[in-house]
Parts: sequence; C-alpha cells; structure tokens
Amino acid sequence: MFEVNTYSGDQQKDYALLLKQLQALIGGETDEVTLLANASALLNQFLDRVNWVGFYIWKENQLVLGPFQGLPACTRIPYGKGVCGTAIKEQKTILVPDVSKFPGHIVCDAASQSEIVIPIFKDQDVYGVLDIDSPVLNRFDETDQKYLGKYVTMIQQYL
Ligand code: SME
Repeated sequence: MFEVNTYSGDQQKDYALLLKQLQALIGGETDEVTLLANASALLNQFLDRVNWVGFYIWKENQLVLGPFQGLPACTRIPYGKGVCGTAIKEQKTILVPDVSKFPGHIVCDAASQSEIVIPIFKDQDVYGVLDIDSPVLNRFDETDQKYLGKYVTMIQQYL
C-alpha cells in the first residue's frame, strides 16, 4: 500500500524524496499505462497548487490523452499546437508563467493559469509529454523544471 509522506517544505529535499518514491512505484513495472498512471497520481499528491497532471502519448503524428489526474481534458493535440504540441515540435521543456500570453495555448481547464510541459523520449524517438497545469500564475520555477526533468528521465528508463 502507498503511504503518504509528510513533505518537509524544502523543495530540493522533497523532490529527492519524490524521486525515491517514483523509483519504488514504477521500478520493474513493464506495463506503460500502469506506470504512467501511478507516476501521474504520485505527482498529483506531491505538488501543491496544481489542477492537472498527466501524460499525452505521441501516436500517428498527434498527441493522444494518456493517464492523468484532473478534469477530463482535450483528447488529441496536433503537432506544433498548444504548449504540448510546441514542446514536441521544439523537443524541449516549455515553462509558461502565464498561459494567456502563450500564443495558441489550448484551454482544457479554464482554471489553468500557468503550465509546464516536458517532452518524453523512448530510444531517441519522441514518446509524449508530461503536462502540469496550475491555477496560479508563475507556479513553476527552475527547480521544478530541473526535478521534473529528472522525474521524466526516470520514467524513460522503464518505457
Ligand atoms: N494546455 C495544453 C493542453 C492540455 S491541457 O492543459 C490538459 C496545451 O496548450 O497544450
């Protein structure tokens, strides 16, 4: 059974603990839906001030909704569209402090105000993205970007 930890409030320490929890949860798991489902649930209970955490998977030249936590969301995102499609096109993490200022941002939950999208690769090829939305402006900083990047790197080892 998963035990909920009390996090310390020290961002770096807490992220280090989160990565250990992720390793314990998905290490050895071979089913991709299973590990992505638990990876989204773990992040959702860890992060404060977020309203959507989940994955889009690259299938037949578009992003298709995968395991997530939050309100029902847009099911398909074309290459280059929105923050997610742009992260795929540019193959890099995109941090958006204010989604209203991101041209072409796709609104799935009207509460979302800031967002971070991290591309995921499998054997050098694009696999999908991790997308996290927040109901507050400027929610994600460089430390979030660094550790969420490590989170994705760990997931990639099991895909
Ligand atoms: N806002 C995203 C769409 C996905 S939802 O946030 C869950 C985008 O612009 O790509």
